Amino acid sequence: MTILDTGIKVVRNVGRFTFGDGSAAEVTDLVNARRTESSPNAIYLIDDFFKDKKQVVDALGIRGADAKHFIGTQKEPSTQSIDELVVALQASGHTSPATIVGFGGGITLDTAKAVANLLTNGGKAAEYQGWDLVRVPGVHKIGVPTISGTGAEATRTCVMTNLETGLKLGMNSDYTVFDHVVLDPSLTSTVPRNQYFYTGMDAYIHCIEALAGSYRNAIGDAYSRETVNLCRNVFLSSDMMADARRSDLMVASYLGGCAIATSYVGIVHPFSAALSVVFGLHHCVANCIVLNVMSEFYPQAHSEFRKMIELQKVELPTGVCANLTDELRQALIAATIKHEKPLTNALGADFRATLTDARIISLFEKM
Ligand SMILES: [Fe+2]
Repeated sequence: MTILDTGIKVVRNVGRFTFGDGSAAEVTDLVNARRTESSPNAIYLIDDFFKDKKQVVDALGIRGADAKHFIGTQKEPSTQSIDELVVALQASGHTSPATIVGFGGGITLDTAKAVANLLTNGGKAAEYQGWDLVRVPGVHKIGVPTISGTGAEATRTCVMTNLETGLKLGMNSDYTVFDHVVLDPSLTSTVPRNQYFYTGMDAYIHCIEALAGSYRNAIGDAYSRETVNLCRNVFLSSDMMADARRSDLMVASYLGGCAIATSYVGIVHPFSAALSVVFGLHHCVANCIVLNVMSEFYPQAHSEFRKMIELQKVELPTGVCANLTDELRQALIAATIKHEKPLTNALGADFRATLTDARIISLFEKM
């Protein structure tokens, strides 16, 4: 295999992080330390999973004049939903807050990153979809993940879809990286089992794809190898949600996020993105549905994945591509092959020689 240069030479990591059970209790102090006379109020964006979990929300030190918004997780972020939230924050006078706290899963964390950039840069979210388009640093932001796997707490992007153009692309920028991340494994104890598995597998999939690819980066490889080790620790154990395993997975998620900042994914993500775009399936469950049929491309990871899913007694949706029409087939093919970089990473520049229309469809039909 030819080793290709990722071209990624300069990488920005999270400024500071706090790790350990109970560390979410420090959020109040972290926020208060940012409050000044000219910017006394903070913005809290909280996963709507916590809407009825008063004790958790009350522990975050939210004051009356702060802005508090619960972020819906039924749909992944769109440039339109981000713009609406920014308008609401401006209307409530939270234009230059002391800090923004993103408390939740990948959707909530990505929303916090996008809002932080927009409050200082102005304009609309769609103007910043791409690489290094954010002009000035965003508002100070603190990320508190409450589920592990996507790595959103560590990355320099915030994934969102422009519903008008269908473009699913984040604001890739050094300014998108969190200033402070609080990693508290105790927060993941109430995650539903299936969701815990699907989301955790995102970290595993990112890294097996990166390690099988031809674009390589030595530091990214090291992050990836340890992420895969930690995921094995978790998902090949008798109880993936035991305290120590949830701690392992939170570390895996963070390191996996650092890994993708220096490398590219492979074949699973393009197929998964097509399932999201065409059928609206969430990223992490879509990844698992795809890996489940990828034995030809990733034989070792596929058999390990089968072992993990059986051991943890997790169910996977089936028949998601039953009764495809011609129109849906074309849409699935188009949405898969547009991810040229990951497909080149996995199969080489002539990936279409391997990945013919017929082969793509036969894979989808197995899902
Ligand atoms: Fe992913």
